Amino acid sequence: MFKEFLDLGRHPIANAFIDEGDFKDEFLFDLKVCWDEETKLVSIKEFVEPERIFNEDYPYNTSNSFPMIEHFRNTAEMLKMKFKPRKVLEIGSNSGPFIENFNKEDSLCVEPCGNFAEVTENMGYKTHVDFWTTDLAEKIVKEDGYMDLIYAANCICHIHDLDDTFKAVKNILKPNGVFVFEDPSLLRILERGSYDQIYDEHPHIFSVTALDNLLRRNGLQIFKVDNLSVHGGSNRIYACHFDGITIGDSVKFNLNEESVFGINNFQTYEIFAERVANSKKKLVKLLKDLKSDGKKIMSIGATAKSTTVFNYCGIDNSLIDVITDTTIDKQGKCSPGMHIPIVAREDINILDYDYVYLGAWNFKDVIATKEKEFVENGGKFITHVPDVMVFS
Ligand code: TYD
Repeated sequence: MFKEFLDLGRHPIANAFIDEGDFKDEFLFDLKVCWDEETKLVSIKEFVEPERIFNEDYPYNTSNSFPMIEHFRNTAEMLKMKFKPRKVLEIGSNSGPFIENFNKEDSLCVEPCGNFAEVTENMGYKTHVDFWTTDLAEKIVKEDGYMDLIYAANCICHIHDLDDTFKAVKNILKPNGVFVFEDPSLLRILERGSYDQIYDEHPHIFSVTALDNLLRRNGLQIFKVDNLSVHGGSNRIYACHFDGITIGDSVKFNLNEESVFGINNFQTYEIFAERVANSKKKLVKLLKDLKSDGKKIMSIGATAKSTTVFNYCGIDNSLIDVITDTTIDKQGKCSPGMHIPIVAREDINILDYDYVYLGAWNFKDVIATKEKEFVENGGKFITHVPDVMVFS
């Protein structure tokens, strides 16, 4: 049974950065969150059709983020050393920072966003411009055979039908093959109160517990879990065919940690919902108080996460003047829903502002280091994670 625990109100597509002339046609949906008593999976209640989100206008380019490029290079090197895969498939290959570490002859990409599929295709990797399904897996097996390694980063939690997703993986994985995927951790989100990781692109938020249940019912098993710091805390899951391998201590550790935290109890989610409501009250009050004191506030990082915060809290450009972002495709547009203008960092003088809200709080240290001059001149940062606070 699905039990609803959180209602975040009406929301736009979190990464649909919008031109000024298009405001009246903006698509909105109800962002509500529920918990499945049977599998313990947390999901949003109303899924948005994937074609609306993942198409040739999808703006999120992994290669714009240096820390992420490094993350994928290190991950690829580690997986090569550990599993020595020959045939490699990446689901959701984006602009290719992971797959580029593997040879072109034996590696394949699956990417539904045409703009990025073109990038990996041009790099020389065979790329299927399609969603990951059992039908596509069948086609790939016929054309290219079975895979030693299937990798996906921040992608599996984007897919609505997880049974079909995991069946597709099982059907194409060699008997000794490994399926490695990483997505934000539900436990870290609950611990940090980072409700902003809930948006249309994340129809599911994974606990190891729920994944263990879902993978098992589709003939796969988790044998290792790495806890990562990326995206504010993610889990890298290693799975293989059921009965393929001894289950490592990291799996037991994670399942136990989640159980102790209360992942299996609905009350945990009700407490989280109260914390989210309090976070909203505190953040709105802080911004309004600063504005009435005549302070100027901007934000760094036009993130999908900040789309959730701004829309849930009703934060528009009466509170935050402008957002800067390093992604060229976001610059010159406005934030989804609340329509705060987005510009390049070079287009503003940060010293004109008293406070910077961290839309990209997950890059807090990188941003604080880059913006040393702002801090030295008395500038302060605002974040809502783990609690609403001001710091310098
Ligand atoms: P990310 O954390 O992946 O956010 P989400 O998944 O919620 O969209 O994206 C970080 C965004 O912040 C990305 O658009 C690049 C931008 N950014 C800056 O503008 N300045 C910076 O110094 C850093 C590190 C990121």
